[in-house]
Amino acid sequence: MNKKTVKDIDLKGKKVLVRCDFNVPMDENQNIRDNKRIVAALPTIQYLLDNDCAIILCSHLGRPKGEFKAEYSLKPVAKELEKLLEKEIIMAKDVIGEDAKAKAEVLQKGQILLLENVRFHKEETENDKEFAKQLASMAEIYVSDAFGTTHRAHASTAGVAEFLPAVAGFLIEKELKFLGNAIEDPERPFIAILGGAKVSDKIGVIDSLLEKVDTLIIGGGMAYTFFKAQGYEVGDSICELDKLDLARELMKKAEEKNVKFMLPIDTKIAKAEAPEGESKTVKYNEIPSGWEGFDIGKETIKLFIEELKNAKTVFWNGPLGLFEVEQFAEGTNEIAKALAEIGCITIVGGGDSSAALKKAGVEDKMTHISTGGGASLEFLEGKNLPGIECLLS
Ligand code: 3PG
Repeated sequence: MNKKTVKDIDLKGKKVLVRCDFNVPMDENQNIRDNKRIVAALPTIQYLLDNDCAIILCSHLGRPKGEFKAEYSLKPVAKELEKLLEKEIIMAKDVIGEDAKAKAEVLQKGQILLLENVRFHKEETENDKEFAKQLASMAEIYVSDAFGTTHRAHASTAGVAEFLPAVAGFLIEKELKFLGNAIEDPERPFIAILGGAKVSDKIGVIDSLLEKVDTLIIGGGMAYTFFKAQGYEVGDSICELDKLDLARELMKKAEEKNVKFMLPIDTKIAKAEAPEGESKTVKYNEIPSGWEGFDIGKETIKLFIEELKNAKTVFWNGPLGLFEVEQFAEGTNEIAKALAEIGCITIVGGGDSSAALKKAGVEDKMTHISTGGGASLEFLEGKNLPGIECLLS
């Protein structure tokens, strides 16, 4: 990485503002469903503690759209951090208000202050200069460790770097190492599995992965757009009719680049209006009207696993079916389990894929599970990430 990290700067005893991505999934009672992003922030926090820093943490949670909403408070994150670090976390009632500033002012070396959700101010997402300056005024050094939010040019992810020396934390360093190796110098064969509902969300990444992979496996809702683009009926399956030409172009590009482009050969369908009801498996080109595809079929699972057995590196983003519904989770689960057994380098991006791995009980068998969804895709697309661009080189 050509950016400075916490190790390249003298931060001993300094007051440090750290942008984390504590945007964790919550249930309706504000219980954290998955603390992975909080755990991922710990190495940097621990390093700063070891260096006698006074630590001011900030993050967004959800999209409260610029106003205070209790359900988006970072209080549950403070509790979780306290549990993980076995240390008091001082919680500010606001972000750049009187309470935050007063608490930041008297913060001692070795203490940790967590500011409230930065998105309680609309100035955050607008990357407002004055807001960034106010945030920066509380500290002497800025550490960016919110990999999952580095694709956003917001005040706390990028703007603040204009006012403080800005360096990366260990999470950003680790993410760039794994994702960077995967695109620059992958062990081959390199196979990418892309799922998720829409082709439109993945155009950029499909296009750029076609330059790099040996095989591209497509599953999830977007497969039906590719079927339709080849002239097959897809019943009531999710299908982007305005993306058919694009789907054809991507398949043509795969052919030109000699990339093996694999689509499902069978699919599990249910009545469109009742996915939890009766279901059956049909060939990819025999989906009746009134029925909708929700998962890859058993033959496809076999086919994909056979292909994956050859891989030395696999990148996976997006579930292969509607895995939240038990009867349509088989494809995603089986691929997750197979990846765990194959023993190649496995890099997984996106909240849904990582939830699927957790559900399949194979999370710890992956080489790297990225904490970034959109950010990891934009990185693989080769886009500049504002939250990284802004750091010292
Ligand atoms: C994420 O969950 O992908 C990041 O935290 C970014 O969140 P956002 O899409 O609301 O900016």
